[in-house]
Amino acid sequence: MAFPTSLAISVLSLTTFFSFAHSQPTDPQLISSAWLAGWHIADATPTFGLGNISWDKYTDMIPTPNTSALTLNGSDGDALPAFVEQAHANGVNAHVALGGWGGSIYYSSSVGSAENRTLFVKAVTEFATKYSLDGINFDWEYPASSNNIGCNIINPDDTSNFLAFLQELRANPVGANLTLSAATAITPFLDSSGTALTNVSAFADVFDFIAIMNYDIWGSWSTAVGPNAPLNDSCAAPANQQGSAVSAITAWHNAGMPLEKIVLGVPSYGHSFSVNKTSAFESGSTTQLAAYPAFNASDFPLGDSWDNAATVPDACGNLETNGGVFDFWSLIEAGYLDTEGNFTSAYPSRFDECSQTPYVYDEAAELMISFDNAESFTAKGNFIHDFGLRGFAIWEAGGDSNDILLDAIRVAAGFEDDDC
Ligand SMILES: *[C@@H]1O[C@H](CO)[C@@H](O)[C@H](O)[C@H]1NC(C)=O
Ligand SMILES: *[C@@H]1O[C@H](CO)[C@@H](O)[C@H](O)[C@H]1NC(C)=O
Ligand SMILES: *[C@@H]1O[C@H](CO)[C@@H](O)[C@H](O)[C@H]1NC(C)=O
Ligand SMILES: *[C@@H]1O[C@H](CO)[C@@H](O)[C@H](O)[C@H]1NC(C)=O
Ligand SMILES: *[C@@H]1O[C@H](CO)[C@@H](O)[C@H](O)[C@H]1NC(C)=O
Ligand SMILES: *[C@@H]1O[C@H](CO)[C@@H](O)[C@H](O)[C@H]1NC(C)=O
Ligand SMILES: *[C@@H]1O[C@H](CO)[C@@H](O)[C@H](O)[C@H]1NC(C)=O
Ligand SMILES: *[C@@H]1O[C@H](CO)[C@@H](O)[C@H](O)[C@H]1NC(C)=O
Ligand SMILES: *[C@@H]1O[C@H](CO)[C@@H](O)[C@H](O)[C@H]1NC(C)=O
Ligand SMILES: *[C@@H]1O[C@H](CO)[C@@H](O)[C@H](O)[C@H]1NC(C)=O
Repeated sequence: MAFPTSLAISVLSLTTFFSFAHSQPTDPQLISSAWLAGWHIADATPTFGLGNISWDKYTDMIPTPNTSALTLNGSDGDALPAFVEQAHANGVNAHVALGGWGGSIYYSSSVGSAENRTLFVKAVTEFATKYSLDGINFDWEYPASSNNIGCNIINPDDTSNFLAFLQELRANPVGANLTLSAATAITPFLDSSGTALTNVSAFADVFDFIAIMNYDIWGSWSTAVGPNAPLNDSCAAPANQQGSAVSAITAWHNAGMPLEKIVLGVPSYGHSFSVNKTSAFESGSTTQLAAYPAFNASDFPLGDSWDNAATVPDACGNLETNGGVFDFWSLIEAGYLDTEGNFTSAYPSRFDECSQTPYVYDEAAELMISFDNAESFTAKGNFIHDFGLRGFAIWEAGGDSNDILLDAIRVAAGFEDDDC
């Protein structure tokens, strides 16, 4: 039966973790991590390969590979062995993530029966052994959820099947020794009635940690321009409370996920929106940007050179709109921010005190961008520190510029740089 192989190939969207030994955080348990997009390692403009990684500043790294093949290097080869080798040479634990937005189509069937779960355990453990991995990051977006790329197989029992699979994996001698984690939504997994679990303690037992993806909270699908990654939203108007780090940690923790098993997912990119000048500014002002302005929902701006263009089919084979994503480096390259990543007088800007995130506006292009900068990463790092979370995971390592974001969140979260 070809199942384990095809399963691995269809499900695995590799995410890998690195762990650094020579840059010990204050708390040795703290996780400083990022996902690494496998498709940016080669054949991207610019590329972001293994040589671009600031290994000494990470404890964990999470590359997500090409969703259609077990490769970290686009169509040009498999960088996974080199990745693991470099990670281990730097004293870093190498993990791999399975799934992703485009790689979760067959997750449901992989855990859908006792037979399939056993085959999936076999595939994962053989894969981890073959590549000397230290851990697996399960990035199922999302169990039992219609919020998916559009063609995922969905089963109301996905969440309980997922748990049964994880428990079987933990019972396996190889699985018992792996660091198991998940990339999750801001609310707990859905039960068979589509309601968020109120008791995730069984998941807390099998996972070493979860990385909550607190980004894409607002985007082109929203009704207004809002924060990509709000730190807080309980201070926002009721209509603008769409979730945040505060709400996510509250929901998961109240359901029984210990704070020390929660890693905060943070973005090194922003979303752009088509906003005319009338909407962009507060009424009567030509300088003060409005909060939550309306945008033209028929106009999807193209982001930077890494953006998903409307002309490229997604993993379901469907054409979508432009993604509109701007990586932090591209905001600097475009001149929206100066070389240190700060606002410039050339473009109106705003820092929202509730979400603790910045906005910038390009009047000529009628483009508003909601993103993260050093100030917002500092706020998120302080939150991680103050609430005793396990650490952070950046989507994606390659989005940063000169480690401006990484340095900001590391310092605030309590990592000590060894060159200080
Ligand atoms: C990665 O490093 C290469 C070579 O130095 C450089 O050209 C490229 O811009 C870097 N990528 C990013 C995203 O910074
Ligand atoms: C992903 O891998 C498949 C199979 O090797 C290849 O055909 C495809 O071009 C790759 N996609 C990207 C974006 O590199
Ligand atoms: C990744 O692909 C590039 C070519 O695009 C190649 O030069 C490089 O050696 C590959 N890296 C690995 C580790 O396979
Ligand atoms: C088990 O896996 C096979 C092969 O992928 C799939 O066709 C089948 O639907 C799966 N079973 C369940 C119950 O999901
Ligand atoms: C457990 O993993 C460590 C490294 O991650 C390895 O050195 C050790 O041999 C593994 N033990 C077993 C029983 O596989
Ligand atoms: C949560 O579920 C676990 C079993 O997974 C159970 O032992 C525990 O009592 C439950 N907690 C609550 C508050 O219901
Ligand atoms: C979030 O906002 C609420 C309401 O303003 C406030 O009480 C709380 O302290 C804020 N939390 C954080 C972590 O900023
Ligand atoms: C400006 O944008 C808003 C929201 O998209 C729209 O309702 C309005 O008609 C636009 N005004 C002009 C002058 O285009
Ligand atoms: C919104 O964008 C569409 C597509 O570019 C354009 O045809 C339309 O005029 C825009 N609407 C407004 C109100 O500007
Ligand atoms: C520019 O940004 C850096 C962080 O990248 C910050 O330390 C510095 O204070 C900022 N400078 C100004 C003038 O705001």
